[in-house]
Parts: sequence; structure tokens; C-alpha cells
Amino acid sequence: MRNRRAALAAIAGAASLALTLSACGQSSEGGSEENGDSAKGGTIGIAMPTKSSERWIADGNNVKKDLESKGYKTQLVYGEDDPDQQVSQVENLITQGVKALIIAAIDNKSMNNVLQQAKDANIPVISYDRLILGTKNVDYYASFDNEKVGELQGTYIVEKLGLKDGSKKGPFNIELFAGSNDDNNTRYFFQGAMNVLQPYIDKKQLVVRSGQTKLNQVTTLRWDGGTAQKRMDDILTSAYKRERVDAVLSPYDGISIGILSALKSDDYGSKSKPLPVVTGQDAELASVKSIIANQQSMTVYKDTRQLAKVASNMVDALLNDKKPEVNDTKTYDNGAKVVPAYLLEPVAVDKTNYQKEVVDSGYIKASDL
Ligand code: GAL
Repeated sequence: MRNRRAALAAIAGAASLALTLSACGQSSEGGSEENGDSAKGGTIGIAMPTKSSERWIADGNNVKKDLESKGYKTQLVYGEDDPDQQVSQVENLITQGVKALIIAAIDNKSMNNVLQQAKDANIPVISYDRLILGTKNVDYYASFDNEKVGELQGTYIVEKLGLKDGSKKGPFNIELFAGSNDDNNTRYFFQGAMNVLQPYIDKKQLVVRSGQTKLNQVTTLRWDGGTAQKRMDDILTSAYKRERVDAVLSPYDGISIGILSALKSDDYGSKSKPLPVVTGQDAELASVKSIIANQQSMTVYKDTRQLAKVASNMVDALLNDKKPEVNDTKTYDNGAKVVPAYLLEPVAVDKTNYQKEVVDSGYIKASDL
């Protein structure tokens, strides 16, 4: 009975979709008429946030490759960091009759309406890397242990400054940067880092001279390096007349590169004024080069090839009436439900282990470095 009702609903859905398609004059790859039993050979929609960073280009290509190797077709779109554009791209994918959606959102709260349309068309949704908030219509979440990312960054700073193990060293000056406030990961990264750093701030072994310690004072819209550079410039001018900054918490390589530019314009990196410890994330080529050149101190490597696999496996399972594999059913409450997640492990990388972690693993080619 349930199956029959579902089948009828699917037929009704397909019919109305077919009407919409002909009304819009759009073509549908895979065809909504084929909806139902055989999702194999159907098209999966992949919506990525931006091409302005290498990782998302690689993510898109990897997801595409993995799904194609499982026999699906793909439609890969990039939203140019514009939430409205991304929403209309997803709308188009739904209209084209995709069988499932994999979405790395630009603005985690912008998706409610469009995901209702996905739900109505019986299209499962995987939230990719960044959790989509405020809607029940997210089926699974594929990501990394995001709090651990921040902990690795905070721990690196504490260790490099020699603060570990009850040492009374310091005070050292630190400045804090966080990611985009519309990305759910931002607060996890920041929280993870502050779990480690806050006790030293409380003991005054770490001092934030700018006084900007709250998340809403330190975010960087759309993870933009130029925005971070400007903020670092302003901080250096206003809070570091004679003093020196010893560490900068940066959540992402693109931001780290901006921070380093501001520091270098202020003569950091010269003999008398060493660069501070600067963290990062993503093991982007420019940052791994910067690490090798003793500028950026570390990055957090997240093997996005594995992430792409996790997301593709989730889709494949769902379309074959199987339960996707998850390893976390508690952490990621999106405000409407706790989204079952598969979280991968991030790895701290600096000059001592980049060869093993990112080169030997084939993530970055030695010749590109
Ligand atoms: C986050 C992601 C980070 C970094 C950042 C900027 O959502 O988890 O790894 O890529 O976006 O693109």
C-alpha cells in the first residue's frame, strides 16, 4: 500500500515536473520520466560555492569523477560566492530532474525554500563540508571534524610559543581571525581554537592587543583574503605601535595569505622583526609554498578526495535504498534536526610533515611546489 502510494506520488511528481519543464522550455538530462526505480544513469546535481579557491575546484571535480565512476551523470555548478545565484542554480538543477543534490552552501541559511522544492520532488540532499541550517530537508552531512580543525590550529600556536606543560612563558601577543559568518563551520573552527587558547588568554600568557576576541568581531565575510589583509593592517596600525604580534590565528589559507601580506608590509619577516606564528587550513598550493618558505607556519590538511568519496557513497546508498554510512549522529544540529554525519579527520601540516602528508599522498604534486 505504502509503495503504491509512493509510486503514485512519484508519477504525479514526474508529471508536474514534466509540465514545468515544457513550460520553461528547459531540457532535462536523464529525464524526470525515468524517476523512480532506476536512479542509475540519472544525473546528480553538485552545487559548489566558488572557483576562487583551489579546494572547491578540486572538490567539484572529485565528486563528479566519483559519481561518474558509479555510473551517474553529473551537473556541476559554481555559485561565485553569491548566495542568490547559488539558490537559483539549485532551483535549475531540481527543474532539470536531478536524482540527488550535493550542496556546499555559500550562505547556510539561504536554502530553506529551494530545499523544500527538492523535498517535494523527492530529491535527497547531502550537505557537503558546510552544514545547511534551519531546514529538515537535509538528509546527510559529509564533512570533517570541524572543531578538531580549530583545536589543531590553537594547539600549534600554544606549542610553537612554548606555552605547553605549565610553562610560565609570555605574555605573547596574538590576534584572532575567523571565517565567514554565514558559514556554519566558522563557529566550530573558532570554538575549537578557543578551547585551546582561552585558558592562556585568561592567564594573560596570551594577550589580544586589539581587544577583538568575540566571534562577531573577528569574522571575515566570504573568507576573503583582501578583507583579512585590511583588518590586519588596521590592527597593526592601531594596536602595535611599539609592540610585536607573536601569533595570528587564521582559519583558512586564503585568509593567512592576506594576513601575511599585511605583516610583510609592516616589515615583519625582516631580520629584526620575525614573522609571527600564522595558522591556516586547506593545504592550498600557495600556502604550502609559503610554509616551505618559512612564512605561513602551518595549515590543516583535509583530504577533500576522501570527502568527495563520502558524499558520493551517500548518494549512491540513498538511491539504492541503503543507509549511508555515518559516524556521528549527535554533533550537527541544524536548528531543525540533528543531521547524521560522516566526519573525516583533519591533519596539522607544517614544514616537518608536508612531504609525507600532502606530497607523498598525491594531494599536491612535488613539481607544483
Ligand atoms: C569552509 C571550509 C574550509 C575552507 C573555507 C573557505 O567551509 O570548511 O576548509 O575551504 O570554507 O573556502
